[in-house]
Amino acid sequence: MKIIVTGGTGYIGSHTVVELLKAGFEVAIIDNLYNSEESVLDRIETITSKRPAFEAIDLCDNEASLSFFRKHQDAVAVIHFAALKAVGESVKKAIWYYENNLGSTFNLFKCMNDVGIPSIIFSSSATIYGKYPELPVKENSPKFPTSSPYGSSKQMIKTILKDTIIGENEIKNGISLRYFNPIGAHESALIGEAPKGIPNNLLPYITQTAIGLRDSLSVFGADYDTPDGTAVRDYIHVVDLAHAHVKALQRLVNEENETDYEVFNIGAGKGYSVLQVIEAFERMNDVKVNYKISPRRPGDEPMFYADSTLAQEKLNWQAELNIDEMVASAWKWEAYYREHLQK
Ligand code: NAD
Ligand code: UFG
Repeated sequence: MKIIVTGGTGYIGSHTVVELLKAGFEVAIIDNLYNSEESVLDRIETITSKRPAFEAIDLCDNEASLSFFRKHQDAVAVIHFAALKAVGESVKKAIWYYENNLGSTFNLFKCMNDVGIPSIIFSSSATIYGKYPELPVKENSPKFPTSSPYGSSKQMIKTILKDTIIGENEIKNGISLRYFNPIGAHESALIGEAPKGIPNNLLPYITQTAIGLRDSLSVFGADYDTPDGTAVRDYIHVVDLAHAHVKALQRLVNEENETDYEVFNIGAGKGYSVLQVIEAFERMNDVKVNYKISPRRPGDEPMFYADSTLAQEKLNWQAELNIDEMVASAWKWEAYYREHLQK
């Protein structure tokens, strides 16, 4: 069975492509390489001995996208990762974020409708909850306005996707996966997260500080009402997240879904503070991370973590890899990336 993966050369996309190929699916990737590199295809091939089909196309380009979809109209489903994802940048560049994230999605839906692909898995985010009045966060927890155009674009796409599925067209069913904080890398260290410029997220900032690219990590706030005062998040290994996509896909293609549109939280269900992540990183990798306590980052919540029991019950999925495995794999990838891939 063929699956089209948008954004498949990116961080989560590349890990998911590996697991799809391992599970016996055929893969066709469409990505404009804005935030990824074509060489990831060689590394996917090294890991799996299979090479996914690929075209460098901007999903906002109607004509080029449709021609790609026509070539791959035998696909049974799409996994839609392609998006711009930097929360802070989206506040400064709102038009661009809405144009890219919504425009590419409209166009994708039109292509799927034109060639008749019935199923979609969508990359949603914990950011869709806006803030976190109850913990752990459940799929039906109240939703609040998000603090960024990035988050709002995810909320909007949820509405558009639901309406599309209800409407009369070829897109018949979909699953949104709400990821919490994906970190880590494939055990081979051949693929991982390589943010362009100064990282926004904790783990890449830690690895870049440890390797000497950054002087010091700022720990944003040590005065939260949490066990050690630093903010708590639900970190999930990217390979576990990739497995969740394979399970969700199998649910749709095997027609095991209970409703046409389903939503699952994908987290480990456990919270770790910033200081706990640093401690695990230093202990597992035998390396020091310079850090200083800094003021809180505007918009950050003190604590959030997922209730992922629905995914456990319905997808037969749960996180397998622990925080030690997450930070060890992230460090192994950083070392490989700096030695072999950085230009
Ligand atoms: P990423 O930037 O590594 O991958 C996204 C890919 O999409 C990139 O390869 C980029 O080149 C491509 N892309 C962007 N716009 C495109 C367009 N118009 N046409 C074609 N390709 C385009 O990001 P990621 O971390 O792998 O995230 C994947 C998805 O998961 C995104 O939708 C993101 O919003 C969502 N998500 C990520 C996180 C996270 O912390 N990484 C958390 C929650 C949700
Ligand atoms: N942090 C630091 N220093 C840094 C970077 C982060 O102390 O240099 C802290 C943050 O304050 C936060 C924690 O580390 O407490 C995690 O921060 P990240 O930026 O890695 O992740 P967020 O939880 O802020 O954001 C993540 C995703 C977003 C998504 C959001 C809500 O990266 O895409 O969860 O779901 F929108």
